[in-house]
Amino acid sequence: MSDPVNYEKRGAIAVITLTNPPVNAIGHAVRKGLFAGLDAAAGDASVTAVVITGDGRCFSGGADIGEFGRPPAPPTLRDVIEAAEACPKPVVAAIHGVAFGGGLELALACHQRLGDSSARVSLPEVKLGLIPGAGGTQRLPRVIGAKRALEFILSGDPVGADEALSLGIIDQIIAGDLVEGAVAAAEKLAAEGKPPRKVRDLAAAGGTPELFAGERKRIERRARGQMAPGHCIDSVENACTLPFDEGMKKEREYFERCRDSDQSRAQRHVFAAERAAAKVKDMPPGTRPRAVESVAIVGCGTMGAGIAACFADASLPVTVLETDPEALEKGLAAIATNYEGAVSRGRLSRQQAADRMGLIRGTNDYADLADSDLVIEAAFEDMDLKKEIFRRLDETCKPGAILATNTSTLDIDQIAAATARPGRVIGTHFFSPANVMKLMENVRGAETSHETIATVMALTKVLGKIGVLVGICDGFVGNRMYYSYTAQANFLLEEGALPEQVDRVIHGFGFPMGPFAVGDLAGLDVGWRVRQGRAKTRPPDERYSPIADRICERGRFGQKTGAGWYRYQDGGRKPLPDPEIEELIIGVSDDLGIERRNVGDEEIHDRCIYALINEGAKILDEGLVQRASDIDIVWIYGYGFPVWRGGPMYHADRVGLDKVSARLAQLAETHGQELAPAPLLEKLAGQGKTFASL
Ligand code: COA
Repeated sequence: MSDPVNYEKRGAIAVITLTNPPVNAIGHAVRKGLFAGLDAAAGDASVTAVVITGDGRCFSGGADIGEFGRPPAPPTLRDVIEAAEACPKPVVAAIHGVAFGGGLELALACHQRLGDSSARVSLPEVKLGLIPGAGGTQRLPRVIGAKRALEFILSGDPVGADEALSLGIIDQIIAGDLVEGAVAAAEKLAAEGKPPRKVRDLAAAGGTPELFAGERKRIERRARGQMAPGHCIDSVENACTLPFDEGMKKEREYFERCRDSDQSRAQRHVFAAERAAAKVKDMPPGTRPRAVESVAIVGCGTMGAGIAACFADASLPVTVLETDPEALEKGLAAIATNYEGAVSRGRLSRQQAADRMGLIRGTNDYADLADSDLVIEAAFEDMDLKKEIFRRLDETCKPGAILATNTSTLDIDQIAAATARPGRVIGTHFFSPANVMKLMENVRGAETSHETIATVMALTKVLGKIGVLVGICDGFVGNRMYYSYTAQANFLLEEGALPEQVDRVIHGFGFPMGPFAVGDLAGLDVGWRVRQGRAKTRPPDERYSPIADRICERGRFGQKTGAGWYRYQDGGRKPLPDPEIEELIIGVSDDLGIERRNVGDEEIHDRCIYALINEGAKILDEGLVQRASDIDIVWIYGYGFPVWRGGPMYHADRVGLDKVSARLAQLAETHGQELAPAPLLEKLAGQGKTFASL
């Protein structure tokens, strides 16, 4: 293995380069190299200043996340960072690409920070259930003030070079060769002969008690149940109120508490799971994704319009087809309205919105799709209609074009069979609203080629989304599990619970909303139509709750009609328990001859959450996902499963599969065989194994 840190001299300047691909993560070997480099530079009388930079695509992606589970081996990141700050010779950080986490913390301790236009900086630790633990919470407020530092640390989001410059995180943007510019800057600093400027000696401005109180209030709702954000605030407050060394000591304490918590373990699992999901196990080496430069969407309803915006947001030109000119106009107007909303909320500039809208072209003519590299059909969920569209697309589009369907339920193989290119047919299941939700279930059919899969998985990343490759089944992964989960929620109502109780328990578990509030938000009519379609094929002995149908029969479709499972006052969005619904539910219990009882919160939790896990086990057993953690990603990014619980399958592993399986067996005895533990769950539980072990 080559040395992960390179040390060279350019004249009187020592240049220390991190060379640990792919992202120059600062693991033990890098820390040792950096420490030795700084030591050598300090001890070499011919060296007057130091530049620290990164080789390859970036400065550094931060501390090596893989090492968090192990005891830290010296020198620690803090040791290295302190050595940089204490170096008697000026140390200049030269940042290109990302300087994230520990990478930025290292840069903040340097005496000057330079970047090129590609520089992006962030402290994303909070996304891993951590706080910056190598001085980030103490130095950043001293550089950019407490308010900005809090925003930066609590969001964990990156900012680009220009914003970093205006914040003062970067002192200067270098237009030409970055390292040459940094060497010149280091020479200049050395020539000035002043003692290096240390961030630790500055005061953190703007840390008023109101600021911290306001932030604490804000995260109560936004980061409910999470430990790290609160500690981020505590630590930034310390930067304003305590001497540097004491603040650092506290930061370490909070960091270690977070690092050793179940929450951070779960969030680190999610980080790895996200990256694992992008890997396709049976992908032959050397398979290349096809270039996708022009895209078309068939259908400009809610989903089609949202998908079109995803492409425009990613700077890709997109043609939208609607055969009905009026529907096209309406769809394009909806996209424009959406962009205007983003402008008025200050999330896009007027120019950006105009540029994006300029990338979207409408047509009524299939012939305009002939040269598209990829077409996504986003029409109504009707098999005959989709087959007809695919027949036409197959006739019209160039032979290499990939044809994708945004179906959320239908069999891709049947759709593919309508074409002469089943290898180039795939499902791309976007979640609504498509331009907001990060998840895509990419559905592979029996004949979908590796090249098609590779292309769509790569495209998912270009769109800034997370793609999970899934197989064909009713509802695919997410919705199939959602049916099992909501089925239990509905049965619980028949037996004695009320929507607000179920929603409270699920919200308490960490979901942003319970299933009934979600139903009202999404609209109840869609599910109603699906259930009507399935009524004929439903096995007569399958337990079925008619409550949702009866609600729809009253024209209550959720928030959009001002009433659903809840009522909504004056066009508001706050769900209010409705006596009419309570009466309706009690009526259903009576009709079914079910004697209502007091349903405890624990039963609600177990029946809903364990039913979800159980369905996940069946999906895993059927080989519909490549690994258990793919299911976690689907549920975190598609359904709001609390990220700090790591996803349903990880959560089950943590609880213990023996416990989950035994509880399901017990529940099945009383509440129906739908709850019987899946064979895979039982098997793993019996072997003392986890889903992750598969
Ligand atoms: N420690 C260890 N490995 C890391 C890492 C880190 N800090 N950052 C990234 N990697 C690994 C990824 O796991 C991935 O490994 P794989 O190829 O085996 O799957 C590889 O580097 C590439 O990362 P990926 O995210 O796929 O590349 P990208 O170009 O899309 O993004 C980053 C690069 C650095 C922006 C992104 O990986 C990132 O945000 N990393 C986390 C940064 C972070 O949280 N740092 C703080 C740590 S406390």
